[in-house]
Amino acid sequence: MKKYKVGIIGATGMIGRRFLEILCNHPIFEPTVLAASYKSAGKTYKEALKNRIKKTNSSLCKFYNFILLDAQNDIEKITSLVDFVFCAIDMNKNDTKKIEETYAKNECPVISTNSAHRQTSDVPMIIPEINYNHTKIIKFQKERLKTKYGFIVTKPNCSIQCFVPAIHPLLDFNIEKILVCTYQAISGAGKTFDSWPEIFDNLIPFINSEEEKTETEPLKIWGEIKNGKIINKKNLSITSQCLRIPVSDGHTAAVFVSFKNKISSKEILEKWSTYESKIKNLNLPSMPKKFIHYYNNPYEPQIKYVREPDKSMSILIGRLRKDIHYDFKFISMAHNTLRGAAKGAVLTAELLYKQGFLKNKIL
Ligand SMILES: NC(=O)c1ccc[n+]([C@@H]2O[C@H](COP(=O)([O-])OP(=O)(O)OC[C@H]3O[C@@H](n4cnc5c(N)ncnc54)[C@H](OP(=O)(O)O)[C@@H]3O)[C@@H](O)[C@H]2O)c1
Repeated sequence: MKKYKVGIIGATGMIGRRFLEILCNHPIFEPTVLAASYKSAGKTYKEALKNRIKKTNSSLCKFYNFILLDAQNDIEKITSLVDFVFCAIDMNKNDTKKIEETYAKNECPVISTNSAHRQTSDVPMIIPEINYNHTKIIKFQKERLKTKYGFIVTKPNCSIQCFVPAIHPLLDFNIEKILVCTYQAISGAGKTFDSWPEIFDNLIPFINSEEEKTETEPLKIWGEIKNGKIINKKNLSITSQCLRIPVSDGHTAAVFVSFKNKISSKEILEKWSTYESKIKNLNLPSMPKKFIHYYNNPYEPQIKYVREPDKSMSILIGRLRKDIHYDFKFISMAHNTLRGAAKGAVLTAELLYKQGFLKNKIL
């Protein structure tokens, strides 16, 4: 099979590097173009990484001799060389929006981990196992962008991916309200312990804009398409506090939930153990064997589990019990740079490929 040629926009960053690790032996996609800021453009990938990572990473070596292009000023060249791009850049919202639309208008699909377009009503924000059918909105987006082939699809914020999949199977019980406190890894800020030693023995009580995203993005994931727009789910309120903790990878959520229906913990556990995504039969390469794991031992799950290769795309849940203010509470976690960003975006691209949205246009 001829592999799809893929551009990684933001290739030098935390998520860009994750994309390359995941795609270095991918059966369908092959990175052929790497781009970053004008400061890195013209350098080899190895040279550009010099100040970013200290240890050699064997999956990245394959790309060390690639010459980086300028993500902002080489768009025509990049889009002429690839079938689609993954985009993970750290820029302000307006510039990111403009860049992503320019790639799409150059007939290059964009699968983005950035937040800029997450609330654009004709841009789907996808967790493949949950709202795989929101890709139907793409035809309306293409009409607006006047494109035949180019479009933008986003991933939700990493903070919501550690609890939304746990809540999703419970929506049938008519959820009234959710309270969530997230404990987020430093890789979510693009940092490592080498680059952020001050985080040792500390907790940062504020992550800019994170609580707003945590409270609104799930409502779009659970929304429905009406008149060419995704309309957010109504009658469900979410409140949150998001904290940064000294953990390398993996976000944990302490979740409290109340239902309009009267239900038992047995019914919740049953929903989790029997939940099967409607895309399971597509056998997408990045799909986990088991989407939701529940642990009976109250000391599990622990954050290091999410870093095990076979669990890095799963949602790990534990400690379900009754609460005196809400109906139930539990702990839920997921890998932020894999499930929450790069590998979740690769899974989204695999879904788009199966649904016929990606084309092998480059010979
Ligand atoms: N980390 C996570 O867990 C996570 C999870 C979900 C979503 N995200 C989102 O993913 C995106 C990337 O995050 P990250 O953690 O990988 O950030 P990062 O490590 O800071 O990397 C940022 C990337 O953006 C590039 N860049 C910066 N300014 C640019 C410009 N003017 N033009 C073009 N490229 C530019 C950088 O290139 P240079 O090296 O040349 O500066 C670098 O490749 C962000 O939008 C973030 O919110 C991150």
